[in-house]
Amino acid sequence: MTRSATVIGGERVPVRRRTQVGIVGAGPAGLTLSHLLYLEGIDSVVLETRSRVEVESTLRAGVLEQGTVDLLCECGVGERMLREGAVHRGIELRFNGQGHRIPLSDLTGGRAITLYAQHEVIRDLVQARLATGGSIVFEGRNVSVHDFDSAKPLIRYSSHDGAHELACDFIAGCDGFHGVCRKSVPQRARTEFTRTYAFGWFGILVKAPPYASELIYAHHERGFSLVSTRSQDVQRLYFQCDPADAVANWSDERIWNELDARLATNDDGRALHRGSVFQKGIIQMRSFVVEPMQFGSLFLAGDAAHIVPPTGAKGLNLAVADVRVLAEALADYYAEGSREALGRYSARALERIWAAEHFSWWMTSMLHRFDDGDPMHRRLQIAQLNQVANSRALQTALAESYVGLPLPGRPIVTNVSPRNAAAALGPVPNVAI
Ligand code: FAD
Ligand code: PHB
Repeated sequence: MTRSATVIGGERVPVRRRTQVGIVGAGPAGLTLSHLLYLEGIDSVVLETRSRVEVESTLRAGVLEQGTVDLLCECGVGERMLREGAVHRGIELRFNGQGHRIPLSDLTGGRAITLYAQHEVIRDLVQARLATGGSIVFEGRNVSVHDFDSAKPLIRYSSHDGAHELACDFIAGCDGFHGVCRKSVPQRARTEFTRTYAFGWFGILVKAPPYASELIYAHHERGFSLVSTRSQDVQRLYFQCDPADAVANWSDERIWNELDARLATNDDGRALHRGSVFQKGIIQMRSFVVEPMQFGSLFLAGDAAHIVPPTGAKGLNLAVADVRVLAEALADYYAEGSREALGRYSARALERIWAAEHFSWWMTSMLHRFDDGDPMHRRLQIAQLNQVANSRALQTALAESYVGLPLPGRPIVTNVSPRNAAAALGPVPNVAI
């Protein structure tokens, strides 16, 4: 519960509240972290600029790695996902008019991916946090982070009832690529690695039964396309486009013609059945990493620290892996008073991040059309695709990365009694700024 700002000496002063970990952003990273901390008996407050409705309805990812699925189940938020998500044990690579199945599960000792939309994961996490007394502030405005070079960091924000301050032991910057946390770190203290691609993805949602039983990643001289799914009634399709293009330039008819051309196979000549398209959007593609991911008491996680092009389906999964490591390090701190694991957070997370960056870049490079005027480029892509289609070793490497390495960290234990009485919850006396 938040309290309204009070007036002292004629001036409105911010309401000050205290928590152990102040989390900026209610995306997969922030909400998963908050829930993992709750299970460790550590208090957190999540601050989010958008409304609950917006957060729970933004359409993004769909592919969950085995480790993400296992983690959500272990921490008690996997029930609906297990019921409604679809387990896929293979994917198809399609090029030169022919499909080649990559048997993910056979190549990885039974591991698989689950198709379950990101906003459904968000709904499950929000519900779990609220059901367990968690604090999520939606529609926070002017969120800013302060004093994270000290042991007393502070988050300021305003809401409909005035100005607030959140005093914490640590801040978790889980506010996505465009958030404030990373940008609050002085430029000299961070190194950023960026690659922007000259193409984007045009994504559509369609009311129709599934087009295929597994995802299809298709390379074609007209450009990349991807057939994915959300449920028995809703399908998700993407095709490579000019990132500067406008949705309005693409009628349904033009979209279907483009997808038919790119997905055509030599054997069947089948066209996609054209369901009703109810959402269209263009997505930019970039690779990005900031190093390090810790700045004093501020820890970055998820898209706030790294972006991958969606070809490897890694973004959400990486966000979950980051906060798994961070939650464990914070638990060690509150249990033992040691900052050692916190000091290793950045290096530990970055190892997995760079592996995923490489995989996403490799898939992107192999599957997209590059308008670089280099005729050799496409021949090399086809050579690479043929090698993957014909080599069990290369397929195993692809499958291991695609289903994801096991998540780092020890098994999750539930310890919901507060670890640190000194960090008692709730409002403390107002202080003027
Ligand atoms: P976000 O989801 O961006 O959440 C950040 C939150 O912080 C947001 O709710 C935002 O409103 C909030 N915020 C921002 N600024 C502030 C502020 N100043 N104060 C407070 N709150 C703030 N990944 C996969 O793993 N598998 C896939 O299949 C996949 N497919 C994708 C398909 C598409 C089309 C796209 C665009 C992405 C896809 N991704 C996929 C990537 C995935 O969606 C992201 O990596 C994931 O959302 C990252 O989670 P996050 O919590 O780090 O950041
Ligand atoms: C999706 O279903 O949205 C999806 C699937 C696979 C990807 C990216 C996105 O690589």
